[in-house]
Amino acid sequence: MFDFAPDPDANKAHLYRELLSAADALTAGEPDGVANMANVAALLGEFLPDCNWTGFYRMVEGELVLGPFRGRPACIRIPINVGVCGRAAQSGETQLVEDVHTFPGHIACDARSRSELVVPIVKDGAVTAVIDLDSPDIGRFDWEDRNGIEALAAMLADRI
Ligand code: SME
Repeated sequence: MFDFAPDPDANKAHLYRELLSAADALTAGEPDGVANMANVAALLGEFLPDCNWTGFYRMVEGELVLGPFRGRPACIRIPINVGVCGRAAQSGETQLVEDVHTFPGHIACDARSRSELVVPIVKDGAVTAVIDLDSPDIGRFDWEDRNGIEALAAMLADRI
């Protein structure tokens, strides 16, 4: 049994250290990328409060295709450059959106989502997937979330 429980009193820095350590323990030595993404999507949902969707989109033949996630069913295919995920995939840069209603082209998979953090996973200079976090709260994500998820993305580059 995996028993990774976030400390409810932990500050964000501590929370992300724990999250990274749990993700490392779950994915190290496991060659199946889908299994690794599935466990990390579940872990993100467990560790990060106030998120309604946590998961992955994978780069498949030039477009983003839905990967393992926790949350409501979502859009299956997203063209590069469309929406927050497409922008992250095209630019190779993290997108931190305080209010998705102000982001031109935002794709509303879940009408509850109000803020979003999307971090690309880059291997050998190419984006292979993105990690997508959605929250029903405006301004849910900040630089500490960005740093934490970027560290997670770097760790997963060879594991998905
Ligand atoms: N809102 C995203 C689409 C994916 S869902 O949030 C799960 C976007 O604009 O790219």
